Amino acid sequence: MIPWKEIDRAEVPGNGSEVTLLVRDREFSIRTAGTELMNSRIHGSEAALAELACSRLDVKSGWQILIGGLGMGYTLAAALEQSGPDAQILVSELIPAVVRWNREYLGHLAGMPLADPRVRVEEEDVVKIIGKRKTAWDAILLDVDNGPAGLTRKANDRLYGKIGLKACFDALRPGGILAVWSCAADEAFTRRLKGCGFKAEIVSVRARKSGKGSRHTIWIGIKL
Ligand SMILES: C[S@@+](CC[C@H](N)C(=O)[O-])C[C@H]1O[C@@H](n2cnc3c(N)ncnc32)[C@H](O)[C@@H]1O
Repeated sequence: MIPWKEIDRAEVPGNGSEVTLLVRDREFSIRTAGTELMNSRIHGSEAALAELACSRLDVKSGWQILIGGLGMGYTLAAALEQSGPDAQILVSELIPAVVRWNREYLGHLAGMPLADPRVRVEEEDVVKIIGKRKTAWDAILLDVDNGPAGLTRKANDRLYGKIGLKACFDALRPGGILAVWSCAADEAFTRRLKGCGFKAEIVSVRARKSGKGSRHTIWIGIKL
């Protein structure tokens, strides 16, 4: 077995913990506190997050999409694949090093999505970006932490709690879609989503594109 080699490490802004980038042959891993946040071998459900949301949009062009966070860029690449030439995609990434790692080491994994002219990146907490504009987005795609039960930041509870979901609702235009990735189902989250005015759909997806691997949950919330 080839051993993992550390490439770089960086602090998670706001909580003092660290994230590490590791490589083993052609496989990359981003870890925090000993737990794997993202592995380059497994990204089917990250792509499905964008595919499911985009396939439900009720307009065909001019999409304004917000993605939080970048990770290894698989959700972003899938959103670009679904989007037309006039789409604009803003990626919010909390950890500046993750953006740099994508530019220096990881970009090839998802086809260099950061180089696409439709993409802009802000090294900023997605909660702040959501709060900045009302009825602005056709879709907000959230894959920060492990889902509603956070991992990188306790502060991400703000995003998945009632106040965070209400802010997402306000930031979407009518008919807009909030899509949320999670490693596990969460009935309380479904109730909160509905309670904040979304029509909620829960989709169980496989971790791998091949249809194999563990099951992840994606919520599609439509702002009626
Ligand atoms: C599991 S990864 C995302 C994987 C991504 N969907 C992909 O396709 O590779 C989670 C990312 O969210 C970032 N993140 C965590 N909390 C955040 C926040 N509040 N705002 C923006 N990004 C955040 C992490 O630094 C990490 O890069």
